[in-house]
This record gives sequence, structure tokens and C-alpha cells, in this order.
Amino acid sequence: MQDLGDGVDARPYGMPSGHEAHVVRRDVPWLTADPVSSVNFTPLHELDGIITPNGLCFERHHAGVAEVDPARHRLMINGLVDTPLVFTMEDIKRFPRENRLYFLECAANSGMEWRGAQLNGCQFTHGMVHCVMYTGVPLRHLLNEAGVRTNARWIMPEGADASAMTRSIPLKKAMDDCLVAFAMNGEALRPEQGYPLRIVVPGWEGNMWVKWLRRIEVGDAPWHHREETSKYTDLMENGKARRFTWEMDVKSVITNPSPQAPITHGKGHTVLTGLAWSGRGTVERVDVSLDGGRNWRPARIDGGSHPMALHRFYHEFDWDGSPLLLQSRAVDSDGHVQPTKKALRAVRGENSIYHNNGIQTWHVRAGGEVENVEVS
Ligand code: MTE
Ligand code: CO
Repeated sequence: MQDLGDGVDARPYGMPSGHEAHVVRRDVPWLTADPVSSVNFTPLHELDGIITPNGLCFERHHAGVAEVDPARHRLMINGLVDTPLVFTMEDIKRFPRENRLYFLECAANSGMEWRGAQLNGCQFTHGMVHCVMYTGVPLRHLLNEAGVRTNARWIMPEGADASAMTRSIPLKKAMDDCLVAFAMNGEALRPEQGYPLRIVVPGWEGNMWVKWLRRIEVGDAPWHHREETSKYTDLMENGKARRFTWEMDVKSVITNPSPQAPITHGKGHTVLTGLAWSGRGTVERVDVSLDGGRNWRPARIDGGSHPMALHRFYHEFDWDGSPLLLQSRAVDSDGHVQPTKKALRAVRGENSIYHNNGIQTWHVRAGGEVENVEVS
């Protein structure tokens, strides 16, 4: 065996302190129909800053984690192109690459809260989001290499997993800022995030970010596949469904205090913190309320403001020990204001699952315990 040098073989890949063993992805048993069609949630209340560590990024797979050998993996581009092409991983890495920080939010994040407060913890109500630095090749380089025909308007990425996940994406978006990414936070994608290749669709529904990317078809019309008809559409009150609602709207949540992170220090100096994001640009401001939305004060954004990435906010205050109703409300660079749940239901009705960006309320009791509630 190769001599790795002193100490290197004792901890070849660093792990967190044993005291942090509780900081893990968690699932909600009744939401996990089967281990292979599963979802788990990012422990947002245990994190700080704006980057999600790779091992804590929530996972959503419709048919398990595909095991792909990068040496044998291929990406095919076919359809309305001059020259259908097949790329190896090595071919892809010979194109100019970019580094971009983006959040990925599942369209179903907070979906279980549509009809009322249900899950006790921001990990479960808001944990289908993560934010990492992707390294990848702009998709337009690969499409230009194949030569997109003049009548092309759409692309359809396809995954190599058993679900063969497919979504229709407008060619305009594909040529604008989509990436074919092979690294996250500086290292190779994790298997559960699509190793060795995934498409990055900044600001848009997580479902479109096809993992284990093996094929991109170019076409002149959307494909109307399962994930954009039966699923990932928004059933309105009149029985009609909104379709192709790609952008993830401006949203925020207070991560501390929250049900899994109560106030344990008693009254006095308290640091409130949380996350805000928008699929339409940067977050311009976050306001927080301690009294259920009657009075608002600006929070402090710290850690950088990148378009379509998580933003970290803080609000330091002196807690007098009385009960609080904590809320946060974000405003994005496109002028959108995060709505109350009441306002959202007035427009969208009660039948939706996807795209719930309503304002979250946490009730802090005098003892510091926190619960998920709604105020009218
Ligand atoms: N891609 C493939 N191939 N298979 C999948 O099941 N799930 C989608 C998307 N891409 C999925 C996929 C959904 S619904 C989401 S929210 C994101 O991947 C989740 O990405 P993550 O597991 O890296 O958090
Ligand atoms: Co999803």
C-alpha cells in the first residue's frame, strides 16, 4: 500500500466533532413513503453563514441515489441540433468553467404548511433548501458546440437514475445562466446531489435541477412530462392548475430561535438569526417582528448578497422574558415582498403544495420554548 505519511491515514477525510453528532439531516417518517422515494431536511437551525456543508444538504430523490462511475458516464445532447454529441466527464472539464453560489429549494418546501401550522421545527418547515458554491460549465458552451437549430425553444435534461427525471426548460434560460456542474463547495458533487453531473437552474424549482445528468434533448415545444403536469403544478381554488411556475419566490425564515432551538439563556441579550432568499435576484432587506407582525424593524444582512443565493440576517435585542411572536419578511431586488399566509391563501386557495413562501410565525413562550403557530 502507498505510504500516505504521518497522520494522514488516521483521518483521511475530516469529520465534525463528536459533540456535533446531533447536527444531521432528518426526515419526517410519514412523509417518507419508501426509503428509495424519499426526502430529508437540512438542519437550518444548527447552521450559520450562507453556505450549506455538503453532508448536510437536504436530499430529495424520486427513485433512490444512482451509483454512477464517472469514467463510464456520458452526457448526450440530441434533438434540434446540427451535430448530436456525446461528452465524457473529461470533455466537459475542458470547457471554461464558472463558480457560482446558488440556493436550491424544492418547490414543495413548506408545502405541508399550506392549511395551517403543522411541523415543529424550521428543519421540517423550511429545510428543503441548501446553498453551495457550484463549479461547472455554462450549458450554452455545450449547446453551442452541438449547434442549436433556429427553431429550437426548449431543452429537456434527463437523469440517469431509475426515475429518469425530466423537465422542460426554456432555451432562453438554458443559454442564460444554467450550469452543468460537477463540484459543490470545491469538491466533487456528493452521490446524493447527482454525482458526477447535475444541471444547475438558478432561482428555479429544485425539481428542474436534474441530477446524474445523462442527456439533454433540444426541442421546439415543452414535453409535458409527469413532473410538469401531474406534479409541480399549483391547483387553484377554481379547479384549474397553474403550470410552469418556475421561479422560487422571495422567502425567509427565522432559524434561531425556533422550535428545535429554544431560548435557553433566560432574559437579556439575544441573537435572532435567519435566512432569506429569492429566485428573482438578491434580497434587498429583511424586517423582523417580535409581536406577530404589528411592529417591524430592519434586520442586519451579513455574509454577502449574491443573486439567487441564501442571505443571512441577524437581529440582536434584549429579551424581557415575555412571550414573543417572531416573524421575518423579506423584500427582493425585483420589488417582491414576502406575503402573509393569509394573503397567499387569498390568491392561491387551499389546495396547493408547491410555492409556499408565506411568512412563518414562531411563538416563544416565557420559558423560552418555541412552537410553530399562525396568527390571523
Ligand atoms: N434529479 C433526478 N435525476 N432524480 C430526482 O429524483 N429530484 C429533484 C431534483 N433533481 C431528482 C432530481 C428534486 S424534486 C429536487 S428538490 C432536487 O433534485 C433535490 O436536490 P438535492 O437532492 O441535491 O437536494
Ligand atoms: Co423537489
